[in-house]
Amino acid sequence: MNKNDVILATCDSTGYNGEGIFHYNGTTIFVPYVLCGETAKVHILKVKGSIAFGKALEIVTPSKDRVLPKCAVFNKCGGCMLQHASSALQDKIKTETVQNCFKKIAGIDVSVDGVISGQKLYGYRNKLQLPIRSQNGQVKIGFFKEGTHNIVEIDSCPIHPDWSGVLIKILKDFIADYKVSCYDDTTKKGLLRHVVAREVEGEFIFTLVINGDTFKAVNGLIDRLLTKFNNFSLYINVNKTDTNVILGDRFNLVYGKGYIDVEEFGVNYKIGPQSFMQVNTEVKKLLYSHVLSCADIDNDTVVIDGYSGAGVLTAMLAKRAKKAIGVEIIKEAVDAADNLAKENGLSDKMQNICAPCEAVLPDIIKNAKKDGKKVVVILDPPRKGVEKNILLALKQNLVDAIIYVACSPQSLARDVGILTGRVNPETGTMIKCENSQNAPITDLLPDFYQDYTIKSTLLFNMFPQTKHIESVVCLTQSAKAT
Ligand SMILES: C[S@@+](CC[C@H](N)C(=O)[O-])C[C@H]1O[C@@H](n2cnc3c(N)ncnc32)[C@H](O)[C@@H]1O
Repeated sequence: MNKNDVILATCDSTGYNGEGIFHYNGTTIFVPYVLCGETAKVHILKVKGSIAFGKALEIVTPSKDRVLPKCAVFNKCGGCMLQHASSALQDKIKTETVQNCFKKIAGIDVSVDGVISGQKLYGYRNKLQLPIRSQNGQVKIGFFKEGTHNIVEIDSCPIHPDWSGVLIKILKDFIADYKVSCYDDTTKKGLLRHVVAREVEGEFIFTLVINGDTFKAVNGLIDRLLTKFNNFSLYINVNKTDTNVILGDRFNLVYGKGYIDVEEFGVNYKIGPQSFMQVNTEVKKLLYSHVLSCADIDNDTVVIDGYSGAGVLTAMLAKRAKKAIGVEIIKEAVDAADNLAKENGLSDKMQNICAPCEAVLPDIIKNAKKDGKKVVVILDPPRKGVEKNILLALKQNLVDAIIYVACSPQSLARDVGILTGRVNPETGTMIKCENSQNAPITDLLPDFYQDYTIKSTLLFNMFPQTKHIESVVCLTQSAKAT
């Protein structure tokens, strides 16, 4: 196969990024925006040995699950890899991706109990983050095309609510009318760099990131925002660095009270311009509710909440437990968690530790049984997953339940593989075993006893239309599993 060939072939599976996979004359070809079962005319763009990458020129026989994408720049911006698939097919693709990860990485035939969705499959995102650039003398607001600094311009984004379009229009008109300069990646000059917006129940925090110390025209912008948004705060953030990091360290509140008050599951907290917040409010609530029910805690339970962010979930757990200990690496998030504990009268039951989990969790896990009859551990790590020494501590000091919230199915499969004795913690490789179901493998490998058993696996449709997958696996001690 050569670059620029055009072939007619049928897609036989879907890759981890939502792309179609073709097997054709000994070559595996990855082609975005093609669904399994579809026959397509494919232009080969790149060949590397037996792997190739292509672009679909024409879908000759469309899948019955193909739907019309809502977005005007679908397949240009690269953010929504699955907008052309029905929601039932998206659920199936995500379920199979998780199952394939478990099978390939840990040798586990995992049964996924379902995909929990909210009502909104579009218009669900509560956070919008857009670069503002001057490119070839023109102002552009949109998303960076994947892997480039070229902006795909947008007027609105359908996975965000309608306010996204309103905000973009206000900014475009304001920039034109006030002749505000925008950042140019080649000259590193120009003032406006980014806009970040977050929304909770009709209340907004807007942040404008500038490459300078002052933004003289800001009052003009506030006036225009006031014509369409009646409840907002506006921050100016200073970022003069030449990096891809969006926010600088300095925030200057120029309008509004600066935060949004939120109440959830009996816990009151504040969202600021930097607070971590799941992007889909409706599904976040369903996920938290599931974690609370899996945790099955009582007032004799000690809960350890690893990678705890601003402590919202820790507080919900603390309310129901004897004690909850949150561990988080970002100082501002831990300060927010301390405030949250104080404001909710939970200071005596909620401890927030600022440290890398790998440095402190092993000892906390070891000592937790002294504090309560029952110990439950929540793990909600970033994409790279949980560090090995934490997993080993959980194997050496068995706890009653582990609830693993994951944004990377690959890391989840590896870590659950270690906890269930299917993956060697030293090498990260699968332990070969004749029975890939849940039978103990103690006799085969006494050192890697199957300490925990998967009790439930649920997917949460936190990011409809995109390739991203949020999963929650609940594990219990093997002897206790029912
Ligand atoms: C997916 S968020 C979880 C947030 C929280 N569970 C919630 O629902 O709000 C992951 C968190 O882990 C933190 N983090 C990343 N690496 C860490 C580490 N090594 N130790 C502790 N926290 C870490 C991040 O700062 C982030 O707040």
